[in-house]
Amino acid sequence: MAAFNTEQVLSVRHWNDTLFSFTTTRDPALRFHNGHFVMLGLEVDGKPLMRAYSIASANYEDNLEFLSIKVQNGPLTSRLQHLKEGDSILVSRKPVGTLVVDDLKPGRHLYLFATGTGLAPFMSIIKDPDIYERFEKVVLLHGVRFKSELAYADYIQQELPANEYFGELVRDQLIYYPTVTREPFRNQGRITHVVDTGRLFQDIGLPPLDPGLDRAMLCGSPAMLADVGGMLDKRGFVVSPGVGQPGDYVVERAFVDK
Ligand code: A2P
Repeated sequence: MAAFNTEQVLSVRHWNDTLFSFTTTRDPALRFHNGHFVMLGLEVDGKPLMRAYSIASANYEDNLEFLSIKVQNGPLTSRLQHLKEGDSILVSRKPVGTLVVDDLKPGRHLYLFATGTGLAPFMSIIKDPDIYERFEKVVLLHGVRFKSELAYADYIQQELPANEYFGELVRDQLIYYPTVTREPFRNQGRITHVVDTGRLFQDIGLPPLDPGLDRAMLCGSPAMLADVGGMLDKRGFVVSPGVGQPGDYVVERAFVDK
């Protein structure tokens, strides 16, 4: 298991029947960029059973945090959902990924497009004071089926703006835009729908997407990435071709337990 650190679970939070998050200890030697993911898992029958998980905590925090779905027959999440404080989990030693702000060209507004657990890497990014230095506004869209899946909504709206070090930047610059598709909510429809209809821009008071001004990061299902990516391409945005090669937007798949 040399490729993995063994960490202890510190807390577990169940958001609803399908979604939970947990925090763990962090090896002091683990370094990562906000937006990165690690391989995370359990030892099953003497072998590591690992899946990719975006890190939801920021790189300056003492602990690690992860957001996960619960899949009843999922090889890993059917087990992970029973995690308790004090349990051990395995975490890879080399965080990686493409959702890093260094791979975006400079811009005025940053759009973070997430569906479901695709929110996780953006939790790390919105806790990074550097993001508010680089962009005038940071718009976080989170699309979910049901209100109960709006994980961290209270944290984003109450705690983060009250942060003693950079709360003022968050209050002035972060715009949180949750939308729900399968029950009534103040914002309704897929994130592609609120962009295409112009409803988003009306609500937040910013101009429509413009590749000359705006940058974007995408994290969701393969279908969501295809649709949101297509929507940006149509408007003239150019995706980053790979790590170290800046573009107008960057993409990461939200990982599922298959
Ligand atoms: P919908 O309810 O219309 O399917 P999922 O749990 O399937 O990943 O979905 C999370 C959220 O993302 C849901 O609100 C879902 O809407 C939405 N969604 C699903 N597919 C897409 C897509 N291709 N583009 C944008 N949003 C999507």
